Amino acid sequence: MTQRLIQLLLLVTLASTWGLVQSSAGWTVAGALLAVTLWAFLDGIRARRLMNWLSTADTDQNPKLSGVWAELFESTRKVVKRLERKTQSSNARLDNFLAAIQESPNGVTLLDAASRIEWVNLTAAHQLGLDPQKDIGQYIQNLVRSPIFKTYLSGENFTAEIQIGGIGARPSVPSKISVQIHPYGKKRKLMLTRDVTAVELANTMRSDFVANVSHEIRTPLTVLSGFVETMQNIPVTETERQHYLGLMSQQAQRMQMLVSDLLTLSRLEGSPAPGKGDWIPAEELLSTAMQESRALSTVIAQPPQAIRQMDGPDFSISGNKSELHSAMSNLLNNAVRYTPGGGSIQAGWCLRPDGWAEFFVKDSGPGIAAEHLPRLTERFYRVDRSRSRETGGTGLGLAIVKHVAQRHGGQLDVKSTVGKGSTFSMTLPPSRVQLVNSTEPIIAALSGSEQD
Ligand SMILES: Nc1ncnc2c1ncn2[C@@H]1O[C@H](COP(=O)(O)OP(=O)(O)O)[C@@H](O)[C@H]1O
Ligand SMILES: [Mg+2]
Repeated sequence: MTQRLIQLLLLVTLASTWGLVQSSAGWTVAGALLAVTLWAFLDGIRARRLMNWLSTADTDQNPKLSGVWAELFESTRKVVKRLERKTQSSNARLDNFLAAIQESPNGVTLLDAASRIEWVNLTAAHQLGLDPQKDIGQYIQNLVRSPIFKTYLSGENFTAEIQIGGIGARPSVPSKISVQIHPYGKKRKLMLTRDVTAVELANTMRSDFVANVSHEIRTPLTVLSGFVETMQNIPVTETERQHYLGLMSQQAQRMQMLVSDLLTLSRLEGSPAPGKGDWIPAEELLSTAMQESRALSTVIAQPPQAIRQMDGPDFSISGNKSELHSAMSNLLNNAVRYTPGGGSIQAGWCLRPDGWAEFFVKDSGPGIAAEHLPRLTERFYRVDRSRSRETGGTGLGLAIVKHVAQRHGGQLDVKSTVGKGSTFSMTLPPSRVQLVNSTEPIIAALSGSEQD
């Protein structure tokens, strides 16, 4: 500053001296004025250069300045640089923040004070059918048209969440979206959305399951307690007593089977899938199950069905022996239970060309109409309810078979024609199949033989 003052004084003195040399007071004053004007003009040019630079604040293009203006410029440039760096880091933080919310499994929508969309992550856009770019600035109530949502949004109470229908994977299967609004800042809103379709489905299935189990148990219990009451209150003959006790024992057995199947199912659901350590000969599994089904047939079918064991290649299966046995007996026992006496049943293991092993049970029974097939493996789903009850079915057999097959990496298939019969097959993947006299899974043996 002092330097600038000295410069100005020097200029004025020089101009005045020039006036003094001319020996005229007028020229002295004029010279001083001229010097001040020139000074102000030059200063103005520098100020303009600085102003021009400030308007762009381009730190790469420095204006030509000297003296105090250069110092002023330098300090300003440093401030601008610092602000620029700060803005850059804030932007980077915001980008990171948004990227993190973008990855959230929940939907996040930011609404302004008028409920216009400010930002929406892809999950929310997908759940609510919004366009994350085009719908920015749109009123949310115009895009999410559920009346429940509109009432919720226009109210003041956001303590509870609501559920609305969302855009499902298919139009026939709409999703259930839970929505909760959290107000923040100046009347802004953070809207969180969650896809609760699976949770809702699980809840429905759980309550259906409990209702079904209670119903299944209540029926034999009612019968049992009826007989107990009769025998307590009415004098009965020895023949009647024997008869009643027989019927009571049947009901007790029914309950026992139900509990046993329920326990099997819960064990299948709660334990890890069987490893691939134990190799069991397919033939051994088959003959045990065949013996049991023949015994059942002689008890319940009049006359017993012709049950034929179909021979197949010699191979072993890797898996859990008791689970596989339970699945095979369930399929065979179903064939025996639902095929009328004198009918025919064929069962066996075969190997498919792609290396998959297949256990099949073919019967000449009544067959199953196509509309029932997709639901057969649902718990307690029965096509012929009375026949199932009569023969001691629990309605859980095929659910158990499906579980066992899936736990072994395989599946259960059903082919059936009404009036002609059904074929149930449980298929297991090549990794669980090993030809006898071989030490490797079938797939390796197959690819080995292809190379030969
Ligand atoms: N081989 C079959 N032939 C005809 N219907 C069958 C056969 N196997 C199963 N079903 C039908 O599928 C239903 C479900 O079978 P499952 O789960 O084993 O229960 P259930 O205890 O009733 O046998 C049965 O109630 C029956 O109506
Ligand atoms: Mg059954």
